[in-house]
Amino acid sequence: MLGKRELVPIMVGGMGVDISTSSLALEVARLGGVGHISDAMIHTVCDRRYDTSYVKEKLKKYKENADNRDKSPVKFDLGKLAEATRLHIGKAMDAKKGPGLVFVNCMEKLTMNAPKETLAVRLKSALDAGIEGITLAAGLHLASFSLIEDHPRFRDAFLGIIVSSLRALQLFIRKTARNRRLPDYVVVEGPLAGGHLGFGMDWAKYDLATIVAEIKAWLSAEKLDIPLIPAGGIFTGGDAAAFLENGARAVQVATRFTVVEEAGLPDDVKQKYFKASESNIEVNQISPTGYPMRMLTESPAIGAGIRPNCEAYGYILNGEGSCSYIEAHFRETGRNPDARRISVKEKTCLCTQMRNFNLWTCGHNTYRLKDTTRRRDDGSYQVLTAEHVFRDYQYSAGDEIALPAPA
Ligand SMILES: Cc1cc2nc3c(=O)[nH]c(=O)nc-3n(C[C@H](O)[C@H](O)[C@H](O)COP(=O)(O)O)c2cc1C
Repeated sequence: MLGKRELVPIMVGGMGVDISTSSLALEVARLGGVGHISDAMIHTVCDRRYDTSYVKEKLKKYKENADNRDKSPVKFDLGKLAEATRLHIGKAMDAKKGPGLVFVNCMEKLTMNAPKETLAVRLKSALDAGIEGITLAAGLHLASFSLIEDHPRFRDAFLGIIVSSLRALQLFIRKTARNRRLPDYVVVEGPLAGGHLGFGMDWAKYDLATIVAEIKAWLSAEKLDIPLIPAGGIFTGGDAAAFLENGARAVQVATRFTVVEEAGLPDDVKQKYFKASESNIEVNQISPTGYPMRMLTESPAIGAGIRPNCEAYGYILNGEGSCSYIEAHFRETGRNPDARRISVKEKTCLCTQMRNFNLWTCGHNTYRLKDTTRRRDDGSYQVLTAEHVFRDYQYSAGDEIALPAPA
């Protein structure tokens, strides 16, 4: 139960940029669970899907700035940000059918050269567009509830947060007490998740079940009844059931859905995920957000030295118009002034690489995906459907994983 809604206790996590597509989120909602779209790089997602030209227009406006290290003049037009958010989310909500829910994943680290202003627009426009819930991600979100407390839907939409420690949750709840509103759910994300991690490079020392137990004990000591939704490494129906038996209200999963038809990764990249072995997966620090990120070691983004593309994108620019990739890139060009191509090792141009599906972020268990499907004679793996994976989580017991019917 989430509020008064009875749901299948399976939430498919947000996967930017457009890996958790609207079609994936809608299918999960049709099946009775909670699906997420993501508002990451919303303009480029709209351009690809709805024939708009937000990115081209922004680039045209700022292209004179391309050689400058200082990106502070490169601002997002808040009106267009609101329009794109309403378009993407509105289209998804119009198409929604079934007993489940569609939420949006909203990452605070997308600071967009004006952290507070852009976040306020993103959150409000999502609510305007009828989103049923917002999952606050990638950040502490200490001001997020205040940014939307005047919105008419502030108390009617589901609002939740992703945390990776009891301390992060305590900070958030202390802040939101001022808004007289608790989160409706808390996703507890452990160290085996995909995307950015809420841990340092010592992530391997932590364990999801222990963090969930700690948070559960604190909530009950405080007499707070907030549904807990563990995430990160929950690979089978049996894994999910074990968390539910220990008091979780649902689970959030993602990795198994990266290789379904409805997911946004190109087909050849889905095959890379299927073929990955454990040694092909690493956690590194190339994301300019400052959070460690898990990815396939073969990702073309690793070591790429492309020119920063902030005039077109610029989603990671901090409030001063900077991003640690710009710094790393200029350092490297300074060292190799005559080189036509350079390689930047420390950081990556996250916007461009995610936009082009060249940064293959993934969960720790990606190397097990090959065991969830059939291998064809040509060595490729059969792509699954979201319905198949969802039903497998829902009905398979123990370590069992249902294989798809041969296609
Ligand atoms: C490809 C991929 C992209 C992800 N992108 C995001 C994201 O944009 N925002 C976010 O909050 N979490 C992101 N995550 C984390 C998931 O939403 C989810 O919490 C986690 O991966 C669940 O663990 P699992 O992948 O082992 O099932 C991503 C995960 C994957 C696999």
